[in-house]
Amino acid sequence: MIFVTTSHKPTKEQVLKAKQLAQELSLPYISRRSFRDLMEIVGSDYCYVVESNRVVVKYRGGALFFHPSTAKVRMRNVRKGLKDHLIECLQLRGNEWILDTTFGLGAEAILMAGFLKDGRIVGLEASTPIYIVVREGLKSYRDKEDWVNEAMKRIEIVNMDFREYLLSCPDDSFDIVYCDPMFENPVYESSSMNPLRPFAVYDTVTGRDVEEMLRVARKRVVVKAHALDSLFDRIKVDRITGSRKSQVLYGVIEKK
Ligand SMILES: C[S@@+](CC[C@H](N)C(=O)[O-])C[C@H]1O[C@@H](n2cnc3c(N)ncnc32)[C@H](O)[C@@H]1O
Repeated sequence: MIFVTTSHKPTKEQVLKAKQLAQELSLPYISRRSFRDLMEIVGSDYCYVVESNRVVVKYRGGALFFHPSTAKVRMRNVRKGLKDHLIECLQLRGNEWILDTTFGLGAEAILMAGFLKDGRIVGLEASTPIYIVVREGLKSYRDKEDWVNEAMKRIEIVNMDFREYLLSCPDDSFDIVYCDPMFENPVYESSSMNPLRPFAVYDTVTGRDVEEMLRVARKRVVVKAHALDSLFDRIKVDRITGSRKSQVLYGVIEKK
């Protein structure tokens, strides 16, 4: 069963927020007082739990919650002078508008936004549970590192399939379009990605999709794939960079 509830002993605000969320998602709201063990009712589904400062999706295998995760480690590495392949591919000036077509938990969007002084990021996420957790996280999460809080303010997220969204975009409406679909060859050691897996949309990016991304991009499209994935055999890119060790590759297509 999929439903919305709160954590134990909720405030009035939490109950109100949970009821509003239930209405938004057309799901039942169940008072937390009505049951002892959340997982008994959840069964093989999941539930949204409105906690005091965040919304968490709970399921038998664990919990999905918002966290900037790898964005902070990657930013620290860049500041130490180490190369970040994504940041290098993007060639940012700081005023770009970026469309992140596959937002996930937004670690890479936050990292990218950390390099934007005036630009903005629009993130698309087709999975509703992921979208809700991230939307609420972007509103309420506060980090000790101020650059993360500033970066999050430059991001807006939309619950939509990128194909549908791209169709509504005029030519050249973003400087850069970024796409990081779920790998065909998952890296299970990537612990930050594991809670997302049960809820993610596993779409195959086609040549036609990339053509649409290129139409919408003013400067370039960057696409990410695992070295063993078929993506770079199926689409033509101008260059590929990445780390041999992690097998994570970024393909860049320049707008001519
Ligand atoms: C690999 S994750 C992205 C991770 C992200 N780059 C990060 O740093 O957290 C891919 C995400 O894209 C979403 N997705 C897959 N196909 C999509 C589509 N057609 N439209 C929008 N989102 C999609 C999945 O649900 C998943 O959350």
